[in-house]
Amino acid sequence: MCGIVGYVGELPAAPLLLQGLKRLEYRGYDSAGIALANQKGLEVYRCSGRIQQLEGAMEGGTHCTQTVGIGHTRWATHGKPSDRNAHPHVSGDGRFAVVHNGIIENYLSLKGELSEKGYTFTSDTDSEVVAHLLALLYKGDVLDTIRQVVARLRGSFALGILCADTPGCLYAVKNASPLVIGVTETGCLIASDVTAILPHTRRIIRMEEGDIARLTIGAATVTDQTGHPVQRAMEQVDWDVEAAEKGGYAHFMLKEIMEQPRVLEDTMASCLDQNGEVVLEGVGLTEAVLHRLRRITVVACGSAYHAGMAGRYFIEQMTGLPVEVDIASEFRYRDPLVDEHTLTVVISQSGETADTLAALREAKARGSRVLAIVNVVGSSVANESDDVLYTRAGPEIAVATTKGYTTQVAMLYMLGVYMGRRLGRLTVEQNAAYVRELRDLPALVERCLTMAEEARTLAETVSQHEHAYFIGRHVDYAVALEASLKLKEISYIHAESYGAGELKHGTISLVEEGTLVVALASREELVAKMLSNIKEVKARGATVLTVTDCAHRDMFRESDALLTLPVSPGTFAAIPMTVPMQLLAYYTALARGCDIDKPRNLAKSVTVE
Ligand code: AGP
Repeated sequence: MCGIVGYVGELPAAPLLLQGLKRLEYRGYDSAGIALANQKGLEVYRCSGRIQQLEGAMEGGTHCTQTVGIGHTRWATHGKPSDRNAHPHVSGDGRFAVVHNGIIENYLSLKGELSEKGYTFTSDTDSEVVAHLLALLYKGDVLDTIRQVVARLRGSFALGILCADTPGCLYAVKNASPLVIGVTETGCLIASDVTAILPHTRRIIRMEEGDIARLTIGAATVTDQTGHPVQRAMEQVDWDVEAAEKGGYAHFMLKEIMEQPRVLEDTMASCLDQNGEVVLEGVGLTEAVLHRLRRITVVACGSAYHAGMAGRYFIEQMTGLPVEVDIASEFRYRDPLVDEHTLTVVISQSGETADTLAALREAKARGSRVLAIVNVVGSSVANESDDVLYTRAGPEIAVATTKGYTTQVAMLYMLGVYMGRRLGRLTVEQNAAYVRELRDLPALVERCLTMAEEARTLAETVSQHEHAYFIGRHVDYAVALEASLKLKEISYIHAESYGAGELKHGTISLVEEGTLVVALASREELVAKMLSNIKEVKARGATVLTVTDCAHRDMFRESDALLTLPVSPGTFAAIPMTVPMQLLAYYTALARGCDIDKPRNLAKSVTVE
């Protein structure tokens, strides 16, 4: 996720663009840039680091007199954070400058086509192909050229475009990624969301799918992909800036829970090709490397560790290799038995967790190949690993991870299919079936998000408890680990998780009248066992909330409460089963008046050991 701004009007553009980028930094902040246009041509400033660095490089922009410009603050997906990978990207002839938010899924094929035609690339980004494609197809009509370029792109893209031949114009394209137009007394603005527009106007036009806009000082013309003008309603926004940053949600955590279908789609799109194969770009897990493996170790902390626990079942099934999941801070002190026949999978949303980094180094020192699953391009974990798989969760602001976790699990599932296929353990039909299920995951999660009101109602009861025990079997145990962490870290309720069969080996002594037990039951073959466990705790007075799916709901009618998935969770159950747990934790913390986005004692990235 990145942030785009643009301005065309009577005022100097640079200061407005810099201010707008600062308001969009929560969308990404590893590099930034601005392009300005006037009769002399395009002027571009780009800088890795925060907006302040760009502001310094531009000396605040006060000397820039141009009144048209575009700006970008980046969250790297393709290409490390650097000056050369920062936007705007400029065509080789200097005629077009482009800022992009989203993912161009077919950028590699476009890059190959353009390179064969003699276009030279100066960055590692997907976005740069747009600038060169504009130059390739330009015959003098900018809008027509933009329409032709848009027809060639696949994926998600919000674009801001300048053309040196039309310095009084700002162009904008909306496709899957958000883009709004602001209409002010002095001109027009574009931005990824209203946060950057509010200081100047509350009159906005929300661009719709496929819209292409041409903005000048006095007019905002929106057309569809065929070039026909379309009418878009002018909206009066009554949000304050803080609400705008949260997309209108009360907290970043809820916004990020709701973003999961989109970011899961982006994460999987980066690994699923048009032929229905999982392709892990730039990863050296060749068949030869895979056949030399004797075991897989997954190492991480907190929710990332829980993601490993959730993915291990499927990866073992796909590879036939033992998968051991270890807490990073324990792994490094146990003289770990890893060697050149071990694949160590290191998971970290931030890519900067000290314990995880240390475990990575320990595994490498013992000869293990290390594959990282991270959300931050160019992070320490990414830089020190042999192979890297990037989740596309975008910046995660809430300390309690939600979309970071589910995209990690999705990446593990895709890694499992990839390895199963290359180890010859998956038939074409099996592979196709798994890929279909993976592609269905965002829609499945979308359906699970409709449980929000149910979760909110149950949260009123849960919030009255001081203790909670989450139990589950198989992958539901892994979900129980994450569910209990979500609840305790933001609501401060003491919550523990156990394999449902393990409770009777001691902890059940804590179960008494009114003790809250949350039973997770998504697996058909384990329903009878879960029913027994529920009976065990109910016999001791527990209040049982069972989380299951619509197919098994009636089997658990003895529960005191049910949280029922409206869908069958399927093979990749850990993801849909976690969503109602995230919602339950969120609404419980809300009911208890906790600081949801910044819980006490916690940090988003634990960079100390
Ligand atoms: C989860 O909600 C916490 N924020 C925490 O457990 C986190 O998952 C853990 O610190 C690991 O962080 P990382 O993924 O950035 O390495």
